[in-house]
This record gives sequence, C-alpha cells and structure tokens, in this order.
Amino acid sequence: MNTPEAKQNTKGLFIKTYGCQMNVYDSERMRDVLRPLGYAPVDTPEAADLVVLNTCHIREKATEKVYSELGQLKRMKQNTGSNMTIAVAGCVAQAEGEEIMRRQPLVDLVLGPQAYHKLPEMIARASRAVGDRLETDFETLEKFDALPKTREADGPTAFLSVQEGCDKFCTFCVVPYTRGAELSRPVDDIVMEARNLAAQGVREISLLGQNVNAFHGAAPQVEGGEDWTLGQLCRHLAKIGGIERIRYTTSHPRDMDDDLIAAHGDTAQMQPFLHLPVQSGSDRILKAMNRGHTADEYREIIRKVREAQPDVALASDFIVGFPGESDEDFEATMQLVRDVNYAIAYSFKYSPRPGTPAAEMFGHVPEDVKDARLQALQKLLREQQTAFNKSKIGQTVPVLVTGRGRLEGQAHGRSPWMQAVHFDGPAELTGKIVDVKVNGATMSSLSGELIRAREVAL
Ligand code: SAH
Ligand code: SF4
Ligand code: F3S
Repeated sequence: MNTPEAKQNTKGLFIKTYGCQMNVYDSERMRDVLRPLGYAPVDTPEAADLVVLNTCHIREKATEKVYSELGQLKRMKQNTGSNMTIAVAGCVAQAEGEEIMRRQPLVDLVLGPQAYHKLPEMIARASRAVGDRLETDFETLEKFDALPKTREADGPTAFLSVQEGCDKFCTFCVVPYTRGAELSRPVDDIVMEARNLAAQGVREISLLGQNVNAFHGAAPQVEGGEDWTLGQLCRHLAKIGGIERIRYTTSHPRDMDDDLIAAHGDTAQMQPFLHLPVQSGSDRILKAMNRGHTADEYREIIRKVREAQPDVALASDFIVGFPGESDEDFEATMQLVRDVNYAIAYSFKYSPRPGTPAAEMFGHVPEDVKDARLQALQKLLREQQTAFNKSKIGQTVPVLVTGRGRLEGQAHGRSPWMQAVHFDGPAELTGKIVDVKVNGATMSSLSGELIRAREVAL
C-alpha cells in the first residue's frame, strides 16, 4: 500500500447546519467524506475555503433566509478577496435546485439531502473546472489504482498508454481522486510510439487507459479537426506495417460506442477480446455504484459486440458485497454471468476505500457473506473459463510466439483470445505468428501442435 503524502496545505471547511437531526447527521458525514480531500473544520466562514450551508425548509421564509445568508457571504468574500467555494445543501437545495445558482451566482454547488456522498465528486469536478489539482489524502492500493506501465519493447507484445485519469466517479473507487481528470494523448504522439515499437519488432500492441474507450485525443496535426475516438485510433494504427494485433484495456460500458464496436468487425487487427467490467448485475447496486448504466444496457452492448465479432472473448471485473447488496442483488450478478458467459473475469470482495462515498454508505455486508458470494461467483467463472478454453480444442489458431516455454524444446505464445498457448517448437519463432492446432486445454492455458509459421508482411 502507498503511504499517503503528508498534507501540506489543509483547506478550511465551515458547515452551517439548520433544522433537524438528519441535517446534523449529514453535516457530520460531509466532514468525513471531505477529510480525505484535505478539508478540516474551521470555526468561522472567514477562515474557510469551502462553506456549506446545510439548509432546512420547514420554517416560514426559509428560502429567503438562505438567500440573505448568501448575501452576507458574498459581502465577506468581496471584502476579503477570498476565493472560497460555496455549497448549498439540505432541504432548501432540494426544493430550489439549480434555481439557487441562477439567483445567486456566487453559489458553486447545490446538493440535495442525503447527497453528501456526492460532495467529493462535486468538489473534485469544481476544482478540475478551474484547473486546480486536488491534493488528496486518499489511501491508494496498487491493486485497484495502478495500470501496467508502458514498456520499452522487450518482446513482440507491448503496452502503449493512450489515456489517463477518470471522470466516472464510481462510488467505490479512488482513481478519479488519485489519478485526476481524464486526459488523452494526441494521436501524433501515439502513432510515433507505435511506429517505434513496430520497428523494434512489436507485433501486438495493447492500448492502455483507466477508461481507454473514453479516449478523445487531438487529431493528427496535418488533418486537424475534431478529437479522434478510440475506434478511429485503432483503425489508423492498424495501417502501421508490422502491427498485426491491436487490443485495448480497460473499457467502460458507457463509452462503448457503435464505431468502436464496428471496428471489431471490420478491422482485421482488432483482436477478439474485450475487457468490459460490469461490477454487478443488479440495477440497484449499479446505481449505488454510480456506474451510469443498467444490467440490460450492458447485455445489449455485449449483443452488439458479438454481432460485429462473433468469436469475441469477453472479460469483466466484479465486486461482491457492495454496501446494501442483498441475496437477490447477488443472484442478479450470477444471472448476468450466466447470460454473458465470460472467457475470463476478475472478482473482488468490496473493500471500503477511506474517503470514497461508498465507504460511508449504510448496509455494509458481513465478511462471511462476502466470502460465500465470492466463492460462488468464482466457481461459476472458473467453469466458464475452463469451458471457453476447451472450446478451442481441435481448432487451428494463430499464435503470436512470445518466447521459450517452460519445458525444453517448447515455445509459448498468445492466442487472439488472450489465452496462453504452449507447443513444441523452436524459440527462434519468437515474434512470429504461427498456426497451432489445439489438442489440450486447462483453466489457464492451451497446448497444441505447431502446424506452420505464417508469412508476416512487414
Ligand atoms: N477503470 C476500470 C477499473 C479500475 S480499478 C473500470 O472502471 O473498469 C480495477 C478493478 O478493481 C475494478 O474494476 C473493480 O472491480 C476493483 N475495485 C476497485 N475499487 C474497489 C474496491 N473498493 N473494492 C473492491 N474492488 C474494487
Ligand atoms: Fe474507478 Fe473505473 Fe469507475 Fe473510473 S470507471 S471510477 S477507474 S472503477
Ligand atoms: Fe429536517 Fe428541516 Fe429538512 S426539519 S428534513 S432539515 S426541512
């Protein structure tokens, strides 16, 4: 686990609470969820970088009182030249909504009751909008936060980073806070790196990003015009001599556009493998996770991808035991897995990341229930993975040879569906795509017999 950097500049937080116990409670939670963003309570609005009015609507003229309070803050802000952020929360915010910002442009954020868990997202977005970078205190855990590094070519496969950061704010995840806003590299830079890799013998590139299909990199300078999408980028990279295979990871269902799906069908280099994490099969949980789509919308994307590229292998990530997950919700996840039929998937027990909205939610699931659900899910996923691998037995598949195998005289490589393949053959084949007839399969790999080396056009 990374040690969080010591906080240099703590920001001042002043919350004024009106009304009932519910608001008192919400104000406490707001303090909790804002702490990892560097906010500590101060005693006066003058000393604050963020002022939250947590309002009550029950008394007469409640709304007018909020506007008069805002008027005072405005005068104070003008007198002191402070650039504090002002948020209106609670029941007046609920009743008036965005109207508050129209009537008093000084207000930066409006959030309804029980929406305190949206605050970190809203604050992060507001600071991104003015070009600030939040100094966060989120604990980061490499397992969830880091991507593989872009490497110098040390074999025929390479990662190529095209995009960083994330704007999705899933409620369980630290990435939007730790890695910052979503940012794409210009197409020219990517093409230059891809050419360079191809010249070093790379045959397969994996385009890398936290939300790689949200890619929107600056168009090539000679062409100008709108930013390019990932589909356009893939089609373009496919024209580089030597690049025989293109993959990308990790994608978000919301950014799986029709053009990218079409590229799977019409661009030979697009490998039949898609890692499209869904996390849960329950609409209720998907909503609480802020994923922005339903289980059926996900099923529909999968249907379209399979239509474009019928042999596509599907991969996903799952979280079991998200706060509030019932047996029924978990069963919906199992049903989605049965419906989709995955080639491979990664599954995790929900683990609260301090500072993320989900960590503050109700209904944390007991550890033994999480364990039981994880075991049931992994059993099903293992069966699917084994069945998928076995379905290749008897087929002749193109294998990109990546090096010497474990046993003497053996080579190993990768199938189009990301399976590891072992076969008897010389290590000199490394970097070539060869045909292997599959005659054995386990959960983790295929074995087969070398048929012939293909001619690879360079
Ligand atoms: N951007 C990628 C995911 C990056 S994090 C995406 O949206 O798909 C990698 C995986 O770690 C996630 O897909 C999720 O399944 C898991 N993960 C992230 N935070 C987690 C948490 N708090 N508890 C359990 N699993 C988590
Ligand atoms: Fe995290 Fe991925 Fe969600 Fe972004 S899309 S918040 S990286 S899980
Ligand atoms: Fe409570 Fe006032 Fe809202 S009493 S529920 S804060 S209107």
